[in-house]
Amino acid sequence: MTGVLITGGTGKTGRALAELLRGSGVPVRVASRTPSADAPDTVRFDWNDPATHPAALHGTDRVYLVPPVDTTDPMPLVEPFLAEAEHVGVRRVVLLGSAIVLPDAPSALELAAYVRARPGWVVLRPSGFMQNFLAPHPLGERIRRRGEIRTAAGPGRVGWIDARDIAAAAAALLTEPEGHPGGYRDDRRDYLLTGPQALSYQDAAEIIADRTGRPVRVVPVGEAEQADAYRASGMPDAFAAALAAVDAGIRTGRDDRISTDVLDLTGRPPRTFAEFVQDHAAHWADTGTP
Ligand SMILES: NC(=O)c1ccc[n+]([C@@H]2O[C@H](COP(=O)([O-])OP(=O)(O)OC[C@H]3O[C@@H](n4cnc5c(N)ncnc54)[C@H](OP(=O)(O)O)[C@@H]3O)[C@@H](O)[C@H]2O)c1
Repeated sequence: MTGVLITGGTGKTGRALAELLRGSGVPVRVASRTPSADAPDTVRFDWNDPATHPAALHGTDRVYLVPPVDTTDPMPLVEPFLAEAEHVGVRRVVLLGSAIVLPDAPSALELAAYVRARPGWVVLRPSGFMQNFLAPHPLGERIRRRGEIRTAAGPGRVGWIDARDIAAAAAALLTEPEGHPGGYRDDRRDYLLTGPQALSYQDAAEIIADRTGRPVRVVPVGEAEQADAYRASGMPDAFAAALAAVDAGIRTGRDDRISTDVLDLTGRPPRTFAEFVQDHAAHWADTGTP
């Protein structure tokens, strides 16, 4: 069999990608630590259990790669997996990288360089996900429970992207054999994926309030306080600190950029933040929790 192994197949982008590929008749294998017993195209896969890797790769020729989450050092777990993928003849890997560079995390950059160096393997660098504004992400959790965004990013803007558009871009790259009518080019190894517009947290809060009627206030906090909040939500120490430092970068304008790569790859413009909010309006209903 040839088909696509979707790591992180139950996550925000992986789940949407599986739906798109199934809808196009592409054979998929959805990887999860807890595969569903009644879905024959799922497979048990755990980054921390290398014994699960060969069986997940067996018979697939393309991989959507979501590296281990909540770590600043993915390489030790991912490199042996990619060596195995190369060994079994995987011709295309689409890595879910990031446009947001975590400080003191060279391993993520090494991973992107490793993928880019192989013919046919490509890196997606998405901007911040719009889905962060939904629970269970700590940002979305706080909006839902308290109508509040706490951020150290100030007025800095981000080209927020809907995870469904990342999935659509990945689907284009995983299904087009060569020469996509839009933008797929054999010599491109790297795609910057953003939404159509860069927005600050204040802009986003106003759109949510406007579309849902739920007021959302933005409370400025320092980086250390932000890191503490991430830790309290269960993130490991180093990752919480790195993620909090991202806000400092946003504040400087580093993530205030947009690209046309989603349109070029899929032939459709990426969703606006207002469209995203419209699609999830019920999510922000006041829970009444203090
Ligand atoms: N959020 C953002 O703004 C943003 C921006 C740019 C890039 N990114 C990147 O996007 C990636 C995905 O992040 P996300 O927060 O959106 O997560 P997600 O894809 O929604 O969920 C995490 C996925 O990873 C799987 N997973 C968790 N632990 C695993 C393990 N030990 N072994 C195998 N699979 C495991 C989970 O599957 P099971 O639980 O079913 O095993 C789940 O499908 C990250 O690499 C992040 O750097 C995120």
